Amino acid sequence: MTSVKAAVFASGTGSNFQAMMEAEDLACEIVFLVCDKQEATVIEKAAKNKIPTFIFNPKAYPSKAAYEKQMVQKLQESGVTWIFLAGYMRIVGPTLLHAFERKIVNIHPSLLPAFPGKDAINQAFQSKVKTTGVTVHFIDEGIDTGPIIAQESVAILPGDTEETLKQRIQKVEHTLYPKVINQLLQRTSNF
Ligand code: GRF
Repeated sequence: MTSVKAAVFASGTGSNFQAMMEAEDLACEIVFLVCDKQEATVIEKAAKNKIPTFIFNPKAYPSKAAYEKQMVQKLQESGVTWIFLAGYMRIVGPTLLHAFERKIVNIHPSLLPAFPGKDAINQAFQSKVKTTGVTVHFIDEGIDTGPIIAQESVAILPGDTEETLKQRIQKVEHTLYPKVINQLLQRTSNF
């Protein structure tokens, strides 16, 4: 078992979380899932994989800084050194960012800097571009603006619907994210 401990943050379906669980050679141990939505399907996926989940309700805290402070404490107590966002629908604030500087990574379904923010697949589809894709990047204080680590393009085909395009993008995500995580951990462990 690897000694690098990571947490995944997700708010939705969790197909990327599941892909990490199924990756044979993932170079880190996912020690818990952080989720801000009680009803998110990713919680069931974590339970099936026996991964503890920290579910929080942002409205129960006076501020983002307050819930992130509690998160940082939990993450540090568990020995977490990397955070992988996988459909986490909140902007990460300075409290978490500063505690895990250059250790928070996100996956986004477009070729950034094109189509940042919500509904990136729909934005690309509506804009009639011929190519979109997937970006893995570090998080900074902006929305999908952090330094890019890796990208893979996905063609938008003449017969595509938004749904068929989404399926192809997600297929790419599920192999790209674990691969990039491994490269990143290998690279940083050499320092
Ligand atoms: C993915 O498309 C990811 O790029 C974006 O949110 C989506 C999450 O999907 N940030 P899932 O919950 O992993 O299925």
